[in-house]
Amino acid sequence: MEVRKLHPLFAAELIGADVSDPQNRELIDTVEDAMREYAVLCIRGQGHINDQQQLAFARAFGPLELPPGNNAPGVKSRIAPGLYSASNLDANGEIVALESRSAKIAKGNELFHADSSFNDMPSKWSILRGVIIPPERGDTQFIDMRAVYEALPQAMKDRIADLKAEHSYAHSRRKAGADADDNLPMFKYMRAVQPMVKQSPSGRPTLFVGAHAERVIGMDEEEGTALIEELLAFAEQPQFIYSHKWQPGDIVIWDNRCTLHRGTEFDYLRYKRDMRRANVNESGEERCAIPAEALTQHYQQLSKAEAAN
Ligand SMILES: [Fe+2]
Repeated sequence: MEVRKLHPLFAAELIGADVSDPQNRELIDTVEDAMREYAVLCIRGQGHINDQQQLAFARAFGPLELPPGNNAPGVKSRIAPGLYSASNLDANGEIVALESRSAKIAKGNELFHADSSFNDMPSKWSILRGVIIPPERGDTQFIDMRAVYEALPQAMKDRIADLKAEHSYAHSRRKAGADADDNLPMFKYMRAVQPMVKQSPSGRPTLFVGAHAERVIGMDEEEGTALIEELLAFAEQPQFIYSHKWQPGDIVIWDNRCTLHRGTEFDYLRYKRDMRRANVNESGEERCAIPAEALTQHYQQLSKAEAAN
């Protein structure tokens, strides 16, 4: 196996690996070491991997954060329980309408974010597997937030040193133009307070602000929003971004503790995209971050609202 750097600051490709054997100690150690240093790792040529093998590979690095949709009553799924779907497909594998709820909600993924930063359950990595890839566009872009922090002016580092921000899933959905009522049962659980500066696994300090960051604790709302937007604009400069061009069979792993990512647009109505994500968490246990009752109530309320329209 060989690790080859993909960008001057971060991101690497692991060449010569086969992720189908999670018992392979050399593979697991190589991935852990590369992730600590590069924070984004691409493993190409894994088209032979199925859902169960992806889950087994992910579990070699820690317990999973299970997707809420898995437990939703009556929800039919094309993919194995335990995996998040990142696709434009419905349960039958057909392209969903642009005005559908899931398409509108997915729009928020085009803003730079760290997965699950709105959960108290601490996220470690996301492991995304490309099953069906549009033939053009639709790159996933990543930002190295350790490099971003390092490049911040000292006055800004001092200003944010002890600040915390509240992250909320509903907030990033609204930012992307979707309806997201804070009072919906699930959204009440999808918010968490996070320090704005953390230590990354490499030991380097990292900025921890993305699209889910809604307000700065103890700061006037307008001032807090301005600060969050200033930091995001700084982070989104081209020199900090690695853009991944997908091929079918790619697996890309990113560290949610020190990178941001976003999906980019593709011809949504013309091309199918099927990507499947496993999320590894640091809480020590495998579970969904949202209580099952909240999930049931959430979908009941949404169906009622849709029936009324
Ligand atoms: Fe994401």
